[in-house]
This record gives sequence, structure tokens and C-alpha cells, in this order.
Amino acid sequence: MTETRVQVFKTARRLLTGYGASAQLAAEAEALMMKRPLIVTDKGVMGSGVIEPILESFQHAFTDSTTLYSDISAEPETHVVEDCRHRFMASKCDGIIAIGGGSAMDTAKAVAVYIGDDRKLEALFGEDQVRTRKTPLICLPTTAGTGSEVTNIAILSDVNAQLKKGIVSNQLLPDVAIVAPELTVSCPPAVTAASGVDALVHAVESYLSNFSTELTRPLSLRAMTMINKSLLQAYENPKDMNAREQMATASLMAGLAFGNAGVGAVHALAYPLGGRFHLSHGVSNAVMFTEVMRWNYANCRALFLDIAYALGAPNTLVKEDAGDFVVERLAQLCEQVNIPKTLREFDIPREAIPELAESAHGVTRLLRNNPRELSVDDIAAIYTAVY
Ligand SMILES: NC(=O)c1ccc[n+]([C@@H]2O[C@H](COP(=O)([O-])OP(=O)(O)OC[C@H]3O[C@@H](n4cnc5c(N)ncnc54)[C@H](O)[C@@H]3O)[C@@H](O)[C@H]2O)c1
Ligand SMILES: [Fe+2]
Repeated sequence: MTETRVQVFKTARRLLTGYGASAQLAAEAEALMMKRPLIVTDKGVMGSGVIEPILESFQHAFTDSTTLYSDISAEPETHVVEDCRHRFMASKCDGIIAIGGGSAMDTAKAVAVYIGDDRKLEALFGEDQVRTRKTPLICLPTTAGTGSEVTNIAILSDVNAQLKKGIVSNQLLPDVAIVAPELTVSCPPAVTAASGVDALVHAVESYLSNFSTELTRPLSLRAMTMINKSLLQAYENPKDMNAREQMATASLMAGLAFGNAGVGAVHALAYPLGGRFHLSHGVSNAVMFTEVMRWNYANCRALFLDIAYALGAPNTLVKEDAGDFVVERLAQLCEQVNIPKTLREFDIPREAIPELAESAHGVTRLLRNNPRELSVDDIAAIYTAVY
């Protein structure tokens, strides 16, 4: 009998892209029979001016019946999900619309699967612990970005455990994702930089993943090329619509790639930095990026050559030089967008390294995707190199 090799490509059920796509939101919400939507966003996005035109377009569809929830901090904490669910119930909402970066989208995704579940939120953490989602969900990213609009994971900070924890379930995949570059134009440069490098890490790690597929690999490579060309432009000229559109699309493509192939050791080593020392997701990934790539290169030289070409290497480059080319280009990009290079710059004590290494080694969900295995000592050596 032939071995079965069926793969399911996970994404939002419906995907709208391109400049002006946010104007379609009211129609999409109506098609999902939303009459009293809850808009989940945060204060930074509220102050950026992207919400007002959307609310205006809502006036015809949902007169007086839209509820706003914006009490979300970056790297959202678990109690916010409880609070947001309470608002949903109190306002008798019948659908959720996330407008924001990964923090707002992950909160909205967690709330959407928590509605109508009488268990404690903790019961939902881990893989496939979620029951059926009962409320419709639309996600509009305002950063480029996390790709959260098409992934089956929501990441929350558990302050007591000083850990970032994930809810992983296909029930988190939104009904509709609207990737509208106009929503990212107001991103301040530091957010453009951190979220843009996160998208690049998604592209590279998904390409190197042990679980990459024929469908994910082209998405990863193309996203790398687009980010390599447009990140600095978007950082230096926030109103450059072409750069914003390229970044928004690349972030989506990287999200589709890693949502199916997974990410690896960069994310695993970044997690404890977020949980314990509150570095933002994008910045913690950026700091670990080049050293983890230096480690990975030994096991996948041919793949590194592909990455080098995607990042603009001349076609005369050979496999033996691909590792150096990739590491140097990634380091240069992070430097150009002013992301600190060392753990020391974040006041992380050197003595914390053994504990960070133990914690990262426990992120087996991601380490199993990585092309080269890491022991606790290997991980500690990488943190030390970045110190
Ligand atoms: N679920 C996933 O697949 C996934 C993937 C990667 C990261 N994440 C999570 O996403 C979070 C990080 O998300 P992020 O990088 O998008 O940042 P974010 O959502 O935390 O936003 C960062 C800051 O930028 C502001 N901001 C966002 N969009 C803006 C805009 N258009 N104009 C002005 N200000 C704006 C926000 O108000 C906030 O202050 C982390 O919690 C991380 O764990 C999730
Ligand atoms: Fe990420």
C-alpha cells in the first residue's frame, strides 16, 4: 500500500489583499451576519487614525451597535482576554473584528474561541485544546508583521509564570483576513522595524523548517526577497505606499509559510527573552536571528544558498560562502533599522543565561522544526555569543 502524504494548507477561510481592501470590511462583516460586532484594537492603533474611516463605513451597516475594546497592551496578558470576553458578553456582541498588530489579533483570536467555553482560559493553552469556535472572526493587520491573520496560534503572556504561552488550534483561523497596506502607513519606524524583521524571521525559519513543503517554500523565498528590498524603504519613508504594500504582502506570505511549516530556534530562543525580560516579539527575534543562523548553516548549506540568492546574492556565490553572506546581510538589515545587537543593551544580566537556556530548550514545539538540534549547552553558547 502507498504511504499517504496528504497535507492540509491552513489559512483564513477568505483572504482580501491590496490597497483599499479595508473599505470592504463592512460588507465582509455583513456577509458573516454580524449585527453587533466587537472591534478589538489597542490605544496606539486608536491614536493612529486608521480606525475612524472604518467606523464611518460601518455607520450604514451597524448603526450604534459597534462596541470598541482597546485596553490591550503590547504582548497581551491573559487577564486581558478575560476582560475582553466580558465586554463581548456585556454588549451582547455577535462577532469579533481585530484591527491591530499581533497583540490585538492574538487577543481577539483567543477571545473568539473562549466565548461559550465554561472552562478556565488555562485549559485552552497548548495544542488542540480548543472546542468549536462559536463566533465569527475577521482580522485586519496594522503592522507588517506577524502574519497572525492567517495562523492558527495566539500567543499570550502569563505574567505569573513569566512565560509566553500559545493556544494552537485550527479554530483560531479567522473567517476573513483583510490585508490592507493603507492600515500600516501610520506605523512608527521602531514598530515597522521590529515587526518587519519578525516577518523576515518567519520567512527564513519556515524555509529551513523540517516541515516545509512545496507550497510553503516559494512563499518563504518570495517574502524574503520582498522584505530585503522594502523594509528599509518603509522604515525611512513611512508614507512610501509601494514599500508598505510590499511589506504587507510579504508579511502575509511569510505568515502563510510559517503557519504551515512552523518556525524554529530563533523563535524558541526569543520566547524567554519576552516572557522574562519583556523584550517585544520582533526585537527578541531580531537579536537572536544571526547567531541562530550561524548555528543552522552547518546542517543545510544548499538551503542557505537559496536564501542568499533570495537576499540578493550574485549568482556566482557558492554554497561554501552562503552562510557568511546570509549572516552578514541579516545583521546589516537589523543594523540599518536600528535594532540593538546584544542582550547587554537590554540590561539582561549574564547570570540569567543558564535559566534562559533551560527555558528555551523546553520550547520543543518549535525546536522540533529546526534543521539542527540544540542541547541546553548549545543554546547557552548562542545566548553568550549574543551577549
Ligand atoms: N499569532 C501569531 O501567529 C503571531 C506571530 C508572530 C507574533 N505574534 C505576537 O504578536 C505580538 C506582536 O505584534 P506586532 O509586532 O504586530 O506588534 P503589536 O501588535 O504589539 O504593536 C506594537 C505597537 O505598535 C502600535 N501599532 C500597531 N499598528 C500601528 C499602526 N498602524 N499605527 C500606529 N501604531 C501602530 C501598537 O499600538 C503597539 O503600541 C506579540 O505578542 C507576538 O507574540 C503572533
Ligand atoms: Fe514571530
